Amino acid sequence: MDKNLDDKIIESYTGLAKDNRASRMPAVLDYLQSATGLFLALFMIAHMFFVSTILIGDGYVMYRVTKMFELDFIFEGGCPLVVSVIAFVVFAIFILHAFLAMRKFPINYRQFLRFKTHKNMLRHGDTTYWGLQACTGFALFFLGSVHLYIMMTQPQTIGPVGSSFRFVHQHFWLLYIVLLFAVELHGSIGLYRLAVKWGWFEAKTPQQTLKRLRGFKWFLSVFFIALGLLTYAAYVKKGLSLDSNTDYMHYEYTEYKK
Ligand code: HEM
Repeated sequence: MDKNLDDKIIESYTGLAKDNRASRMPAVLDYLQSATGLFLALFMIAHMFFVSTILIGDGYVMYRVTKMFELDFIFEGGCPLVVSVIAFVVFAIFILHAFLAMRKFPINYRQFLRFKTHKNMLRHGDTTYWGLQACTGFALFFLGSVHLYIMMTQPQTIGPVGSSFRFVHQHFWLLYIVLLFAVELHGSIGLYRLAVKWGWFEAKTPQQTLKRLRGFKWFLSVFFIALGLLTYAAYVKKGLSLDSNTDYMHYEYTEYKK
């Protein structure tokens, strides 16, 4: 029999890799989970700044940002397919991250009860964060997928008018308010946990490190939820000013072209 296959069979039954050593695979998967999480958290920080450009210039700045992503300096009028490709890559990393994170979920009532009892007995902030991380992560499976699928398949509808129309008249306001809280909490706790796990930004003592990182985590959560809510209000305001019977998804942005 193939030697590699032999090794895999032995590992699957005993949990030990070649030469009786513990398999390196769990560490590799952990590393990949951290790397995809870091990418997504940094992406979300940039995303929030881009989306919040609706707050300035009465839609003009967001229009310019949208066109920049469509590479309108190369393709005349912009090419929305570029945004589809970006959304596809982000979606693929999002799915990979969710797949890797699933390994950590309690998978039956017994494991769930064990975690809950442990959390309540220990009363340690980080264990509570872990529970919140699992809940928001679970919600993101569904909420994030809906949003990413729309961004991937309808990139031509992105813009100050199309996005505001989607918010109000296609009832995305409901999805976005839950998604906003879920993703901002998940992202800031995720970055905090990455820093603790890999020893980033260490201070003189472990206590000082934790204090510094927790402060930063709070700052990130509060800042991005506040910016997100202001942005949310701006899209809703613009959406409410649009007539629900007009086809804004094929709208020509003549007023921004001047
Ligand atoms: C390349 C991928 C993405 C693109 C192009 C994109 C683009 C956009 C755009 C244009 C909006 C404005 C509303 C609309 O047009 O429907 C928006 C809003 C939003 N997006 Fe994304 N997005 C992407 C990925 C994500 C991901 C991965 C998440 C989180 C899992 C996310 C969370 C949100 C939230 C929460 C809002 C509402 C913001 C607010 O109300 O302040 N987006 N996004």
